[in-house]
Amino acid sequence: MYRSKIAGIGKNVPEKIITNFDLEKMMDTSNEWIIERTGIHERRFVTQPCGCAELALPACEQAIADAGIEKTDIELIIVATTTPEHQFPGTSSFLQAQLDLKGVPTLDIRVQCSGFVYGLSIADQFIKTGQYQYILLVGAEIQSVGLDLTTEGRDIAVLFGDGAGAAIISRSDNDSEILSTHLFGDGKHAMDLSIDAPIGYECPRISKEMIDEGRQFPQMNGRQVFKHAITRFPEAVREALKANNWSIEDVDMVVPHQANMRITEAIAKRLGLPLEKVFSNIHKYGNTTAASIPLALADACEEKKIQRGDKVVLAAFGSGFTWASAAIIW
Ligand code: UT7
Repeated sequence: MYRSKIAGIGKNVPEKIITNFDLEKMMDTSNEWIIERTGIHERRFVTQPCGCAELALPACEQAIADAGIEKTDIELIIVATTTPEHQFPGTSSFLQAQLDLKGVPTLDIRVQCSGFVYGLSIADQFIKTGQYQYILLVGAEIQSVGLDLTTEGRDIAVLFGDGAGAAIISRSDNDSEILSTHLFGDGKHAMDLSIDAPIGYECPRISKEMIDEGRQFPQMNGRQVFKHAITRFPEAVREALKANNWSIEDVDMVVPHQANMRITEAIAKRLGLPLEKVFSNIHKYGNTTAASIPLALADACEEKKIQRGDKVVLAAFGSGFTWASAAIIW
């Protein structure tokens, strides 16, 4: 068995900043409501047609450089996204073409906000068995073009943003290591955060009537999501601690999926962690679904909030419901 590590990290966000005040002009909402309920001040939106692969490309190039490898070292591309550019094929195929890595296998995973940690677990298994030495793992989302940016869709529209993060997962020859990953799900809640149409079992899958009813927009039972998130996040973190005989005091930084600042605060409270040990950048990017953890890792590294050798726990919760954690020596 080999050991694996996160060898490099990168990020890319669209240039256009959309503040809460910009949203006030599109729908009946307010800067105060959004900040109080979510902690979000601004988010990024793409301004011209752009797929997740295109948005992710600069993040991948950064991660490759950060890992000190050549792109041709990559043996597998995994992409986690909720917002692929096409129903099929997956975003990873488009990314592979843009990276010009013909022949490299591509894999999309669809577990929404938990996508990066699920992807990390998949990559970890391939490295541990020795099948691959270098894997590109991406979380990328373009939520903005799929949101109902009117008052009707305001409960969701104010939460989400666009962005991409990438990581190189490689064999480890030093102290850095992915020590454990834990994955969970409960499909009973599948429709509590979902997009209804196109509908796989209806013909046609999308109709004018569906569009007129707004069924192409995400819908969310916000309170149900909130209630489960504040329970599942701490449970997932505790699994990570237990598997590695760590106490919560041993952890240098928890990097959670950036769902909502109130959720992050509730997680910190339930785990008995000071807020300084729970990384947050939701104020500037909103909830970027599968991209949020690699974006947070990139920012945490840039701000020197995590450094090589630190004990880091990643935790995610999202649509499905799915949730997951990973314990890492950074
Ligand atoms: O990755 C997981 C992603 N999802 C989440 O993290 C969401 C988890 N859920 C939440 O964070 C919260 O449920 C929300 C922030 C989405 C909503 O907060 P809430 O305290 O649960 O509010 P609510 O849905 O109970 O709505 C309270 C009021 C309602 O008005 P009335 O019926 O009391 O008159 C809503 O219509 O707030 C209204 N409202 C808004 N007002 C201004 C809902 N969205 C907005 C908005 N601006 N954007």
